[in-house]
Amino acid sequence: MILNVTTPDGERHELEALAGWRVMEVIRDWGLPILAECGGACSCATCHVYVDAEWLDRLPPRSEEEEEKLDEAFDVRDTSRLSCQILMRDELDGMHVTLAPMAR
Ligand code: FES
Repeated sequence: MILNVTTPDGERHELEALAGWRVMEVIRDWGLPILAECGGACSCATCHVYVDAEWLDRLPPRSEEEEEKLDEAFDVRDTSRLSCQILMRDELDGMHVTLAPMAR
């Protein structure tokens, strides 16, 4: 399956992903600039991405922990998510996310 990622400088990448991988792991493992300092423990918010609006309905809602971390993040929007909290699955094949400026 494919995860489409745009970096803050506007470059778009088409990344091969596997079901069960965290979106953050896909982005990091393909070498794109994402800090993800806590390694996916939902405690740093440096994996902040903007999910294209048409994909939001297919994602589970933000957990309380994710909401709390996003409260501390920079330039949070309605489409903001922590990419370590989203697991790739068939319904998300082709999803597009944009790295938030402070994710790198
Ligand atoms: S990697 Fe730290 S909150 Fe996602």
